[in-house]
Amino acid sequence: MLAGLVLLEILSISLFAAILTRQQTQRVRLRAQFILAYESASLASQVSEALEQQRPGWISSSVKTVGEAPNVALATVTDPAGNVLFVSKGEADQAVLDPDERAQIPFISRDHARLFTLPGNRWEAAWAIYTNNQLRGYTWVEFDPTSARGQLFAIQRDTLVFGAIWVIASAILVLLMGRSIARPLSVLHRGAAVLMNTPEDGGHFPLPIAVHNEIGDLIETFNRMVASLAEQRAGLNDTLSLLDSMLANAPIGLAFVDRNSRFVRVNQIFADLTGVTVSRHLGRTLTDLLPASVADEIESAVEHVFLSEEPVRNLELNGEGGKPRRPWTWLISAYPVRTTPTQVRWVGVIALDASDRKRSEEALRRSEKLAVTGRLAASIAHEINNPLEAITNLLYLLRNFSELSEAAKQYVTMAEYEVRRIAEITQQTLRFYRQPTHPARSTLSELLDSILTLYQGRINALDIRVERSYDPALTLFCFAGELRQVFANLVGNAIDASSAGGRLLLRARRSRDWKNPAQTGIRFAIADTGSGMEPEIREHIFEAFFTTKEVTGTGLGLWVSHEIILKHHGSVRVRSRTAAQGNGNAPATIGTVFEVFIPDDPSFAEEPSTAGIAQTSSPATA
Ligand SMILES: Nc1ncnc2c1ncn2[C@@H]1O[C@H](COP(=O)(O)OP(=O)(O)OP(=O)(O)O)[C@@H](O)[C@H]1O
Ligand SMILES: [Mg+2]
Repeated sequence: MLAGLVLLEILSISLFAAILTRQQTQRVRLRAQFILAYESASLASQVSEALEQQRPGWISSSVKTVGEAPNVALATVTDPAGNVLFVSKGEADQAVLDPDERAQIPFISRDHARLFTLPGNRWEAAWAIYTNNQLRGYTWVEFDPTSARGQLFAIQRDTLVFGAIWVIASAILVLLMGRSIARPLSVLHRGAAVLMNTPEDGGHFPLPIAVHNEIGDLIETFNRMVASLAEQRAGLNDTLSLLDSMLANAPIGLAFVDRNSRFVRVNQIFADLTGVTVSRHLGRTLTDLLPASVADEIESAVEHVFLSEEPVRNLELNGEGGKPRRPWTWLISAYPVRTTPTQVRWVGVIALDASDRKRSEEALRRSEKLAVTGRLAASIAHEINNPLEAITNLLYLLRNFSELSEAAKQYVTMAEYEVRRIAEITQQTLRFYRQPTHPARSTLSELLDSILTLYQGRINALDIRVERSYDPALTLFCFAGELRQVFANLVGNAIDASSAGGRLLLRARRSRDWKNPAQTGIRFAIADTGSGMEPEIREHIFEAFFTTKEVTGTGLGLWVSHEIILKHHGSVRVRSRTAAQGNGNAPATIGTVFEVFIPDDPSFAEEPSTAGIAQTSSPATA
């Protein structure tokens, strides 16, 4: 750019110098013509005056004076024939006119100068000398080009010097301007490159503004644009973080699939449902990761959404899986995800694990039935009481009957024993139904015995050996009805797990809390030599609706028991071992032990805490 500018300037200055020289040359020529005309006329008038005055001496001095005038090289006076009479330089008799000068003679007049150019670019003027209308000769004045040339040279030199100064000055100016433009432009360029390559790196901005011109304004606008971009990016990041945290923490499974039913994004809960890690979902299809029947149903819902652009809601899917294997229910909804108002790009799949709800509905149905059965049992027990009393009285009368043989009396005694058992069972049944609502001091042996009475039939049927180890005088301040429910469930579970000929241990004694030795209370142990539990089952037993007894269990027994224990500020722990863990040990070391600690004088807080479950895998001892 700089070289181009210098070249352009040199060209324009040369052109300017050429035009100036041409103009100057013309001006010099005009001036020369004027001077020559004036000088030749003046010499002619002086010569004619000298001739008229008859003073030829004046002629010589006039010729000399004119010859010495500025811009005059030579002044000559000739006779009409062109013979030199006077000359300003040298001797007249040695000077002659050039043939070219002579050729001008016919054209010389007394009215105006005859101007002509001789070879060698010599300019000359001639004037006719008349006295009394008689031609007396001619004056010849030759122009001295030296000073004109000097002037022309000076003009050219001045023009060149001015031109050189002009070119250098403008080159320096352009250089300075170039730097003042190029520097901020390169700052701007670097800033744009940083913005494109590492848009998150805000350390380079705002760019420094070192100039206060249009480029400075441009940099300032650029800085404002970067700041606004950063603000927009921050807003976008906020929205993305919001969506990410929603996706990660929403208590529902979320997945997005494309037109080929490939996963483009899933959240952890969805991954938990499918049992495959989040990253393994991406790029895989529904059929790759889900059981065929489930994948088919979801796929057809997704297809329907793509075609109709309408959501599909609450599609119920059922199956079985997980560890331990349990039935599950998913509620699936699918909705269109549009990136433009007219195009459905993905389909969002919402999966809701409705297994618990399904189980709770089932449990509710079953507990309704149980409640009805309970009420029925209580009313039957109540109704049985009156006839039982009559039978007891009648048997008493019968036993004292004198005609009765010894064998008959023995039968009556046996009948009395069985009737007493019936009475006891009806009492216990009624006690379950009519639970006191206030805590009271209860005798634990009575409480535990009453439970054994209830289960006596099943205990006998399985020939289970019951070992009781508790002081008959042991008492506890508690909700007796609720604790009865706890032990009834623990004993019921123990019997469920036991096989024929097993052992069941019930123990209660004064002790200290294993978590807080300063706390005194009663420690219960209910141990069986039954099937035991695998660790993955043991982990879940206190969860509501967790059961391995598909048909007979609701999975609420231990959950309710745990709540009651917490209500009494107590704690519970389990040890269990299965035959697989037992490594061929004696059957007595296989089974389950539930230990329950209930502290003295609990204040029965309203809100139970979630603490209080301890589990170990050490062998169960009965
Ligand atoms: N003594 C035990 N031995 C082996 N497994 C047991 C024992 N006690 C509990 N379990 C396991 O814990 C699960 C949950 O017990 P929980 O009492 O809560 O429910 P359930 O007995 O199945 O049903 P229900 O609500 O009728 O009591 C049982 O299904 C069983 O698998
Ligand atoms: Mg149970």
